[in-house]
Amino acid sequence: MAMSKYESTYDVIVLGAGPAGYVAAIRAAQLGLKTACVDNWMSPDGKTSLGGTYINAGCISSMALLESAKIYHQIRHDIKDHGISVDNISLDVPKMIARKDKKVDMLSKQIKQVFADNGIDFIHGSGKLMNARQVSATPPNGGKPIILNAKNVILATGSSPIELNCAAIDNDVIIDSTAALSLQTVPKKLGIIGAGIIGLEIGGIWNKLGSDVTLLEAQEIFLHVTDQQISLEAYKIYTDQGLDLRMGTRVISAKRSKDKVIVEYQDQEGNHTLKLDKLIVASGRKPNSENIAAPEAELVLDENGYIHVDEKCCTTVPGVYAIGDLTLLGPMLAHKGLEEGVFVAEQIANMETPINYDIIPSVIYTDPEIAWVGHTEQAVQAMGIKYNTGVFPLKANGRAEAIDKTEGLVKIITNAETDIIMGVHIIGINASELIAEAVLAMEFSASSEDLARTIHAHPTISEVLHEAALAIDNRSLHLP
Ligand code: NAI
Repeated sequence: MAMSKYESTYDVIVLGAGPAGYVAAIRAAQLGLKTACVDNWMSPDGKTSLGGTYINAGCISSMALLESAKIYHQIRHDIKDHGISVDNISLDVPKMIARKDKKVDMLSKQIKQVFADNGIDFIHGSGKLMNARQVSATPPNGGKPIILNAKNVILATGSSPIELNCAAIDNDVIIDSTAALSLQTVPKKLGIIGAGIIGLEIGGIWNKLGSDVTLLEAQEIFLHVTDQQISLEAYKIYTDQGLDLRMGTRVISAKRSKDKVIVEYQDQEGNHTLKLDKLIVASGRKPNSENIAAPEAELVLDENGYIHVDEKCCTTVPGVYAIGDLTLLGPMLAHKGLEEGVFVAEQIANMETPINYDIIPSVIYTDPEIAWVGHTEQAVQAMGIKYNTGVFPLKANGRAEAIDKTEGLVKIITNAETDIIMGVHIIGINASELIAEAVLAMEFSASSEDLARTIHAHPTISEVLHEAALAIDNRSLHLP
């Protein structure tokens, strides 16, 4: 097989150029390891596009569109109080999507440049682990695979949306979360199966752009992954914004009828029918591991396709690691994968660097955002630990009032005996940025007293954390 321009043996070959994979490749190259990265993502114009779901069809796309949606919504609804009026507001959805695509393209090219700067060989194709630390890379449009040899292989091929038998994707009226970020018009009536993180993020965007959004969620409890005080607050805020959240529903079927989609579902009250312009399936993601290894490689996967790894991301095959969404080690989050990329590259270079799976922030990029780190109150209760909570609402924060962003609250949970912070939960403006302070505090095993004695600039939204820490001892300064 042709070796052509590629090295005969690499120190590291990474499969997948999402946040886990591209970071692993960059860190490996920084450490002087001869590195290649194989990725098969194809942009709509048939070109390679580094960055995986995170850049091409997930977080960055979602964030770019959310920003546009927020601006549109603000101009339509919120600016009159500022004494500003705008006539003839119009919405050019293709232009909005084109802006998003431009951001994606820019960030993807940035990674390509970093690869080039670090001497990483990028190979556009589908990678597969073969026997004995060999990798094959098949060009995206088929053709003869290139065979590459590696001392170490890092599997980082990410995840993709789970498909439902009851709602088969037709890429027109029934679509997945990727297509939902490239719609060319605003659907009047939009349905979403799954009120999880993706369903809420996408539902929030199209709701702001004018869609009537109905979310059908199988679980009875809304956002069961978050602290229940936060999810209650979120439920109230989202329904006030106009999201129609239907919990405890079971979708029976979704069928196309001319240019509409008819959804039949069941709840405690019986059977119901919805007529929609679009239906998005956002019912979870599954690891992209189907063709990741030849049987001879003897890579062990579980029944759901997750790759077995130990606490160091080592698979059952010596010299082969798996990181990011491919494993059940830690949550399915871009920044978890990214840290694992560094962790594994450094292991290969014989550096013993720790990774703390207990302190990983989670964020839901809705408006307002939700972010948390550590334990929820329900988890602490279940552990039987004596604890204290300090809660501070954003409506008591001066900066939030000045900018009309008073929705939400901050909650800090501490160990009642040691005062060490066990969890921080935020719903409110910039929660994704505010949580960084809590993550750092927890990394240093800080107490609520440490936070309470840390001077925060005034007036800033960050003071809500300070005030919540003071609230542990009932000494908040701005609570009416
Ligand atoms: P998810 O697990 O958060 O939510 C899927 C929801 O769909 C669940 O609540 C589930 O009960 C529901 N569901 C499943 N089948 C259903 C059915 N037949 N009918 C009605 N409801 C049904 O999964 P999601 O939102 O697809 O996200 C996938 C993964 O990607 C998550 O692990 C998430 O953490 C990660 N992610 C993280 C983001 C972030 O950090 N902001 C952004 C996007 C994804």
